[in-house]
Amino acid sequence: MLTTSLPGGTWTLGGLTVTRFGYGAMQLAGPGVMGPPADRDGALAVLRTAVELGITHIDTSAAYGPLVTNELIREALHPYPEALHIVTKVGANRDQQGGWPPARDPESLRRSVHENLETLGLDVLDLVNLRLGDATGPRPGSVAEAFETLADLQRQGLIRHLGVSNATAEQVAEAQAIAPVVCVQNMYNLAHRRDDELIDALAGQGIAYVPFFPLGGFSPLQSSVLSRVAARLEATPMSVALAWLLRRSPNILLIPGTSSAAHLRENIAGAALSLSDDDLVELDTIGR
Ligand SMILES: NC(=O)c1ccc[n+]([C@@H]2O[C@H](COP(=O)([O-])OP(=O)(O)OC[C@H]3O[C@@H](n4cnc5c(N)ncnc54)[C@H](OP(=O)(O)O)[C@@H]3O)[C@@H](O)[C@H]2O)c1
Repeated sequence: MLTTSLPGGTWTLGGLTVTRFGYGAMQLAGPGVMGPPADRDGALAVLRTAVELGITHIDTSAAYGPLVTNELIREALHPYPEALHIVTKVGANRDQQGGWPPARDPESLRRSVHENLETLGLDVLDLVNLRLGDATGPRPGSVAEAFETLADLQRQGLIRHLGVSNATAEQVAEAQAIAPVVCVQNMYNLAHRRDDELIDALAGQGIAYVPFFPLGGFSPLQSSVLSRVAARLEATPMSVALAWLLRRSPNILLIPGTSSAAHLRENIAGAALSLSDDDLVELDTIGR
């Protein structure tokens, strides 16, 4: 059994136990998530620090760079510690302009799963999320063909568990009718709470919800209420935002991104911040 001193304790994703405080590797690629990082050694150090601090959940995608974050993860951490689980995504490519065109046809998905296996140096991927929607968010539409393709790769033994990302509640339900879904990775934070109902519904089913952009992503969370609560607690707004997510629901797993080992340490310490009921009531006014 995995024990951890990281804030939030652990969660079991399918059969895989992970720390609820994880790490999102997207920020390790170059500007615009394209190309290599300016500080390659620094990027490798962030990954090694994450594992040294006990994090057992790293989120990545072959589309980051493309291939850059997967290759950094392999270089920094392979052979992987047994407790470490790397979660990847398929369903989008990159274009010359740095866009994220969808690539959800069966052939592209199969290619992407093999590309992830190869670049991460794995025989089986622990968890693959099917990325849906587009850069503006989830888009309605059937996921059947794409999710069936991944379920087939799972039956072939190339993937242990499946999830969906950037998905509507209807798409989550459609995917669940095809194969078990162990997590949903959507945009959510103190200021963007479109998924409140979905989070509660998933919690009832024992399914993890993994918010991307927990700190606001490319534009940091800004709110006078958040700043006021943070000042009162003598903490940073980022600490409050992460601590709030851990309190919001037990099925929420954190994957804040950073290219800095110092920020990673700060975020772990910050997520352990204790929020009072009054703090929660005040913070609850932000995204409503
Ligand atoms: N499924 C999807 O479609 C999707 C989309 C986007 C992201 N993701 C995943 O979600 C993860 C998290 O999202 P994200 O990394 O984009 O956004 P985020 O975690 O909300 O924020 C990351 C930003 O916050 C900054 N930051 C982090 N800690 C800080 C600190 N202590 N002090 C000051 N600045 C700090 C980082 O800058 P520094 O580098 O300077 O620390 C970076 O600019 C990604 O890494 C990726 O794995 C998934």
